[in-house]
Amino acid sequence: MTAPNLNISVDGPAVARAFADHLVQRLNEKKEGPFFWALSGGSTPKLLFKILAEDYKEKIDWQRLHFFWGDERCVPHNDPESNYGEVKALLFDHVPVVQSQIHAVDTTKPPEEAAKAYGELMAQLMPHTADGLPILDLNMLGMGGDGHTASIFPANMNELLTDPRICAVATHPDSGQKRVTMTGPVLNASNEVAFLITGNGKTQRTAQILNKEHSAEKFPVAHIKPTSGKLVWFLDSAAADEVEY
Ligand code: 6PG
Repeated sequence: MTAPNLNISVDGPAVARAFADHLVQRLNEKKEGPFFWALSGGSTPKLLFKILAEDYKEKIDWQRLHFFWGDERCVPHNDPESNYGEVKALLFDHVPVVQSQIHAVDTTKPPEEAAKAYGELMAQLMPHTADGLPILDLNMLGMGGDGHTASIFPANMNELLTDPRICAVATHPDSGQKRVTMTGPVLNASNEVAFLITGNGKTQRTAQILNKEHSAEKFPVAHIKPTSGKLVWFLDSAAADEVEY
């Protein structure tokens, strides 16, 4: 079932396959050269990484991909909380990618230094906009129950949605965990932003945002609108249950 920029699938596995097929299509559209893909963290994309490793090994030109993270927890890469560690275990260890394609946040540095270094790395590796923002081909994002994305939480969204830097340090509102996050201008400079949102825990928030309810303004996700790129939503029927389309 699709409507403009909505891609709704029956369940989580179907959402993962729809996104994987979209990735193949985008790689084909960008006929040659590197493809810069920022991954989201958390639990939702785990199924995607598994399905890519199991069923898309032969369908994707893996060496064209360059992997980044929209946000990363400031923990060691072998920590169970590490977004990089999650993708390494579920995907990188199972497909033909090499370390030079994988651009993880250097979490051995203190958070502010890690954020600065990551922004410099992104600027060095990618084409950029006229005002110097790196341009990702595909920025895959999730949404937390509080409407956050990457590590732009409601409490600090005004700063991070307008921060002129490429990356900044954020603090998880509950755990106090320090994170490195891409800032709002970088997310909105992407050629395409794709939200992957599944489960009935996200139904209400997804509806508020996609139905453009006034209350949505206080959620960071509602402010992710690519300046010249595309915005697409990959939802399962549970998350999309109250979306009017
Ligand atoms: C992170 C993510 C974060 C995530 C949402 C949704 O590092 O946690 O990047 O923005 O996408 O919190 O997380 P779930 O998929 O676990 O619901």
